Amino acid sequence: MKIIMLGAPGAGKGTQAKSIAEKYGIPHISTGDIFRANIKNGTELGKKAKAYMDQGMLVPDELTLDLVMDRFAQDDCEKGYVLDGFPRTIPQAEALTEALLEKGEKIDYAIDVAVPDEAIISRMSGRRACLTCGATYHVEFNPPKQEGVCDTCGAALVQRDDDKPETVKKRLSVYHQQTQPLIEYYERQGVLRQVDGTKSMDQVFAGIIEILD
Ligand code: AP5
Ligand code: MG
Repeated sequence: MKIIMLGAPGAGKGTQAKSIAEKYGIPHISTGDIFRANIKNGTELGKKAKAYMDQGMLVPDELTLDLVMDRFAQDDCEKGYVLDGFPRTIPQAEALTEALLEKGEKIDYAIDVAVPDEAIISRMSGRRACLTCGATYHVEFNPPKQEGVCDTCGAALVQRDDDKPETVKKRLSVYHQQTQPLIEYYERQGVLRQVDGTKSMDQVFAGIIEILD
């Protein structure tokens, strides 16, 4: 099963993608997590990506596409995957469609997690992230068992550099300009499904399971 998570920054793509990956036994591929791991490890890619990410802008398509195509070539992608944060522009979506078409494959579902902008800004200020394993928490809605420590891997949790309110506003405007058009793109492919992302995490996940089962 090949699934794309669509939605604004902070809509809950990562939270839901992780649960989907666990339930269906497919890898969760988050381009944002891959970039953040590269930044943490001080790689060349990380240095390039950080300059864009800290400003709330998108990393250029060439850099992103190379990275994703490498990831798809790994063995664990054979049964499918859940993509989180990719594609994010029409050229990225077209490149993905083409790469799949070459193998006679296609995306099964593009799930749009819909949350209005007003709800996003307050959500982001409470987010805490694990840069080691990619787990995401919220101080109020999904706290870790021990404050500041990742339940899964024990690493220290951090607030993401791009979660400052000014940067979140910029990311939202970039989302509306460059990523929102993908909703129509996947609607035309007949694979778009929408869920109400303002509900509780469990309710959103229940809605997604209904679609996938
Ligand atoms: P990325 O890491 O993908 O960030 P994003 O799309 O802005 O999305 P977020 O991770 O911020 O939010 P999310 O939807 O995953 O929400 P989450 O589950 O964490 O990208 C970061 C940057 O990398 C980009 O700005 C860009 O520069 C670059 N980049 C990445 N991919 C790229 C690409 N393909 N092309 C170019 N550049 C790229 O939830 C948010 C918070 O809310 C959490 O605290 C969570 O616990 C909480 N929460 C989740 N669901 C609920 C709920 N139902 N109720 C209450 N709280 C909830
Ligand atoms: Mg995310």
